[in-house]
Parts: sequence; structure tokens; C-alpha cells
Amino acid sequence: MANIRGRDFLTLQDYSPEEIQFILQSSFEFKRERAYGEFRKPLRNKTIAMIFQKPSTRTRVSFEVAMYELGGTALYLRWDDLQLRRGELISDTARVLSRYVHGIVARVYDHKDLEELAEFATVPVINALSDLFHPCQALADIMTIIEKKGRLKGVKVAFVGDGNNVCHSLMIACSKLGADIAVATPKGYEPKEFVIEWTMENASHSGSQVVITNDPIEAVENADVIYTDVFVSMGMEHETEKRKKDFEGWQVNKELVSHAKKDFIFMHCLPAHRGEEVAPEVIDDPVHSVVWDQAENRLHTEKALLALLI
Ligand code: CP
Ligand code: NVA
Repeated sequence: MANIRGRDFLTLQDYSPEEIQFILQSSFEFKRERAYGEFRKPLRNKTIAMIFQKPSTRTRVSFEVAMYELGGTALYLRWDDLQLRRGELISDTARVLSRYVHGIVARVYDHKDLEELAEFATVPVINALSDLFHPCQALADIMTIIEKKGRLKGVKVAFVGDGNNVCHSLMIACSKLGADIAVATPKGYEPKEFVIEWTMENASHSGSQVVITNDPIEAVENADVIYTDVFVSMGMEHETEKRKKDFEGWQVNKELVSHAKKDFIFMHCLPAHRGEEVAPEVIDDPVHSVVWDQAENRLHTEKALLALLI
């Protein structure tokens, strides 16, 4: 059995397919137990610090509830309320927090800040979203695909939109676990080159098919899953006007999804902007859209992650 206790969780690329499956298996167990009103409390007397530089609804609430249900406590700490705002070093903050808490969950603009936190903390550091990755989201995404499709091998996942943090983590997760992944972005918004290389390398082991294209129809053709995210991520607001123009015609709407399999599912990490990256009739479609189950699964995957790492 895999053992990941004490590890940081900055990107899924650091985890083997077996370790990711192990986290997912535990997530399904937590979900099942909760449905029966059973609450294991492996983190009694444990505390995590949650440092956030950016807003959050799902990540913050799911981690806080997860920690509570596991018997522990979560401290929500806005970056600006800490001495970090007045210039205390990340490395010093990491060392001090490690004397108080058993894990650190952090949402940052610059992924390098997370790496620095992890380097100096002596407790596990979990990425709650950075400019490059959103691995906790990808865990819930994969859990949702398994629930809805019953498998990953041979499932075609199409991501349409900005080649951003959510896209990166989805590419890594799919290619590690054997799902096919097709990413379509406008020119200039492709995923980072190093993430494409990781994805190709993962796929050479798992057998996933990988497509990176500037044609949304090519990506969505025959897809089992259609996934999109906002065109303007947190921290990119200064590019809003330019992105509005560059993403014209990139909405996931009725026409685009008509190219997918009949029983496709629609996914979005949320928050969504109806009328921008997705048409209301797609995200609110009660048959195809699984966004609420996907959001719920953040809780179960985070419980598993906390219980296994701490
Ligand atoms: N999907 C997600 O991470 O949502 P929040 O920004 O609300 O945490
Ligand atoms: N790509 C989005 C995801 C939000 C959960 C962002 O970084 O703002």
C-alpha cells in the first residue's frame, strides 16, 4: 500500500499513478462513510494553517469542513493579516508555523512562493491553487469522472479555453491515470511547454492519447467530458480587455457540445461566468452538467488528502 504521510502536495506530477489512486480510493471511502453519517476522526488535536493570498469559496470551505469532520481545526489566515504583508520572510513564516500546526494549505499568486514555503516548513504543504497548478481541483475532477463514467481508460477529456492552472493539473492527472486528454486554446494561450512535456512523458507510460490544438471542435469531437474554466484567472485581471477579444468564439455552448458523445458530461471548476466561457444552457443543463457533484467532491478528496498526508 502507498504511504504518502509527511509529503508536500504542490503538483500531481510529484505523485505516482498508484499514489494518486490511493488518495482517490480513500476519497471514495470518506464519501461513502459520510453518506451513512459515519465520521472517522484521525486528525483529532491536529491543526492546519490555511494561508490565502486570493479569494476562495470552495477550497476554503471544503478544507475547513474537512478538517472539522476529521476531528481537527483549521485556521484561515489571509496573507495580508500575517506579518508576511510587512515583509516577514516566507522562510521564517514557514519555520514558525511548523512549530504550531501539522500542515499548511496555501493559495498564492506565484508558485515559487509555495515552493519556498515547502522548502522551509517541516510539516506538509498543500497547494490550494497557484498560478501554475490546482492539484486539489484535479483530484476532485478525476473522482467525478470515475463516478460518472465508471472508468478512466479510454475516456476522452476535452479542455477548452485558457491553458491555465486548472488545465495544467487536469492534463497531469489524466495523463498519469490513463484518460485521453485533448486541450484546445486560442493561439498564445496554450499550456506551458514544460507541462506539455510532462503530459507526453506520463502518457508514454499510461497509454493516454494527448492532443494539443487551437481548434475547439477537434478537441471536443467524440469527447466524454467537456471541461472549461474562466478566461481571466485571478491575478490576470489586467489582461481582461485583451482576453475578451482573444477568446471571442471560444464559449462552450450548445453548438460546440453537439460534437461530443451523446452522453458527455460538462465540468467546470467554478466560479463560472455564464455567457463568457460557458453558455447558461450548458452549465445549467440537469442531464449533462455535473458541476455540483464536482464541487462536492472537493470535500471528500481533501479529507483523504489531509488524513493521508498529516
Ligand atoms: N474551484 C475552486 O478552487 O474554487 P474557489 O476559488 O472558490 O476555491
Ligand atoms: N483558473 C482560475 C481557477 C479558480 C478556481 C483562477 O486561477 O482564478
